Amino acid sequence: MHPSHTKVGIVGGGPSGLLLARLLHRSGVDCVVLENRDRAYVEQRQRAGILEQGTVDVLRECGAGARMGREGLVHDGIELRYDRRAHRLDFPALTGGRRVTVYAQTEVVKDLIALQLDAGAPLLFGAQVLDVTGADTERPVIRYTHQGREQTLTCDYVVGCDGFHGVTRHAVPETERRTYERAYPYSWLGVLADVPPSCDELIYAHSPRGFALFSMRTPTVSRLYLQVPNGTDPADWPDDRIWDELQARAALDTPWKLERGPLTAKAVLPMRSAVTEPMRYGRVLLAGDAAHIVPPTGAKGLNLAVADVTVLARALAQVHDTGSTELLDAYSDTCLRRVWRAEHFSYFMTTTLHTAADQSPFDTRLQLSQLDRIATSPHAAAELAENYTGLPLV
Ligand code: APR
Ligand code: PHB
Repeated sequence: MHPSHTKVGIVGGGPSGLLLARLLHRSGVDCVVLENRDRAYVEQRQRAGILEQGTVDVLRECGAGARMGREGLVHDGIELRYDRRAHRLDFPALTGGRRVTVYAQTEVVKDLIALQLDAGAPLLFGAQVLDVTGADTERPVIRYTHQGREQTLTCDYVVGCDGFHGVTRHAVPETERRTYERAYPYSWLGVLADVPPSCDELIYAHSPRGFALFSMRTPTVSRLYLQVPNGTDPADWPDDRIWDELQARAALDTPWKLERGPLTAKAVLPMRSAVTEPMRYGRVLLAGDAAHIVPPTGAKGLNLAVADVTVLARALAQVHDTGSTELLDAYSDTCLRRVWRAEHFSYFMTTTLHTAADQSPFDTRLQLSQLDRIATSPHAAAELAENYTGLPLV
């Protein structure tokens, strides 16, 4: 099945592309998703797992909320650890009732793929998009290979949901786009462990040895991260070394035991911020990681992708229903306001909680002062809680 034309050609079958397809399908807008990897790869790709309330609402409204409602873990707060002390942020108290849900991106992707296939909406795996041309025409064209043959798909609109290393961005002439970037001088070593989490909520730990994050996937699976130097080889981190370092970085003046267990996944993740502006050129639009990436400290990546495609689906439905491009014309500016807020929050969480190798004692004192401000001022704590639980969609 290789359609020759569709209203919306979606490049990429990650969370952005899959959710956009689901929202468009429910609005009666014809679309095709082209994903270059196979289903198993896309469903097992380890990413973050914190859903803002707005993300939960969108997933539930589009029919992807059943398993999330059963298996997602609703959290009312997080704990900050620093200087051997612990401080809990009470999200509902600080934000007027907002909370977050712990539900892995892999599970969101599985739920959306199942919906897409059940609905019979075109989702091609193993379809590698080679290029997107004609962005400044009324018929942009996607050229792709599938099952060893080259195909073309003409579209009314093309949406690049193909991540930060995708091809769709290149449909926008270099003279018409600008990318703002920041690389961080450290990475994360992320592990999955078959052991119940040693905490009820996430712990973000600042320590002179470096940052550590204690998260979870289910009541029996922990998700844990350690700040490591860029270029770290996971093979240099045997299990015991990881557990010892996690324990050391979360040390308190009061005893706290970290339960250990077998590690089932181990990978090093670089930390980068980047934004490509604008998120639209003619009839080609960018959404999710194709337009912006954030360091994972603020847990914003998936939530930003959901916000982009929610705004975009409304805009494309308006074009479909009325012919008006009012919302579409505002898409890029609407999304970029939220993107830059999330970029700043992710930068703030990253630079406040990580200890860079060349960091001065002065820098460390500034970090501890900021953390103390959050622990002692409801205003400072509310600013973090509002950003973490997610600002209103638009
Ligand atoms: N042709 C077809 N598919 C492609 C191509 C291509 N040329 N290039 C990339 N893709 C696919 C990738 O295989 C991937 O499945 O596009 C998809 C992009 O998915 P993501 O990178 O997950 O980006 P997005 O859907 O925007 O989701 C953002 O994912 O990376 C995390 O932290 C990020 O949580 C955030 C979320
Ligand atoms: C995760 O569970 O993978 C996770 C949680 C919170 C973050 C980053 C990652 O800030």
